[in-house]
Amino acid sequence: MPQAVTPATSPAPTPAQDAPPNWVDDRHPIGRLIKALLAVEPLRQLMFFQARQLIIRTAEQRGIAWRARRQQLQRQAEPFLEEAGNPLTTTPPYYRARFHAYGAGNLCWAAACEAEQATDAMALRVWPGETLSPEQAQQRLRQAIFDAIAPSLAGRAVHEALDLGCSVGVGTLALKRWLEQRQSMPVRVRGVDLSPHMLAVARVRDADGEIVAWHHAAAEATGLPDASVDLITLQFVCHELPAAATAAVLRESARLLRPGGVIALVDQDPDSAVIRRLPAPIATLLKSTEPYLEDYFRLDLPEALRHAGFQGVRSQACDPRHRVLVASRQGGSGIVF
Ligand SMILES: C[S@@+](CC[C@H](N)C(=O)[O-])C[C@H]1O[C@@H](n2cnc3c(N)ncnc32)[C@H](O)[C@@H]1O
Repeated sequence: MPQAVTPATSPAPTPAQDAPPNWVDDRHPIGRLIKALLAVEPLRQLMFFQARQLIIRTAEQRGIAWRARRQQLQRQAEPFLEEAGNPLTTTPPYYRARFHAYGAGNLCWAAACEAEQATDAMALRVWPGETLSPEQAQQRLRQAIFDAIAPSLAGRAVHEALDLGCSVGVGTLALKRWLEQRQSMPVRVRGVDLSPHMLAVARVRDADGEIVAWHHAAAEATGLPDASVDLITLQFVCHELPAAATAAVLRESARLLRPGGVIALVDQDPDSAVIRRLPAPIATLLKSTEPYLEDYFRLDLPEALRHAGFQGVRSQACDPRHRVLVASRQGGSGIVF
């Protein structure tokens, strides 16, 4: 049963002082100018409309059937919406912010029925100089993430895995298939998300019922049992969380993991050249669609992991713009086969 979300109680870990890219703090005059323009609502709407048209056009040119797929997914997912949501789940106020230019954030059909296309478009942007299909780019993105996790799972069988902030399940299904191929045995994988719309679409995409449950809950208050999970992933979620929520999610993950269990966080790499050299106008536009991006860049995530009770924190770049942080729950005794 999901629990109510309680505010963070322990002090937040020290923020990373020099780690964030320069554009995070509005030092750049062009960034400041764009921010001022974005504060004028009709201008913001116009800029977002143009940016959105460009994203959709570019994606469709590269083989992503953005609009057709959106219609198809909504038609198929609508019947699942009611049962996808848990009326006992509390939605924290920070989650209702406008994300990715969707006024209702993640709590709407547009966000849910465009998430698959958006993640394929993101994967294609990771390797701009290469001629990849959306499927190839997506597969390469996930494989690189899982390759970075693998060394921390050496000698450990994963029976139960949890994908927090699973969205429409692209990474959840990839995780399940990778784990089963790696271990040659079945793995029980659950997806957790706060958006019933996303979870309804995830059910449609999981046509063969590979995932044990698409669970409507906050990642910081899942209601799942203590010490019941071997592996937790957060794929591209931390940049959508305020710092206090990240700390709460890490504490919840420490509670859920068995001793020695593994957590993996993949997201933008503040040290990557791609992120550091992002042109100020693009960075400002990006920040205006990601309300907690600055929190993410300022937070010292390795320190936050240690603070939540994790050890052996390892950071590995998995592609030119993302990194995977992997750590283990304290108390592990090594091999648990
Ligand atoms: C960018 S998407 C994640 C994409 C997905 N994990 C993947 O790998 O393709 C972020 C997701 O995190 C979810 N989310 C954000 N905050 C959350 C929270 N506190 N608890 C659960 N889900 C959350 C959002 O609803 C959204 O679906």
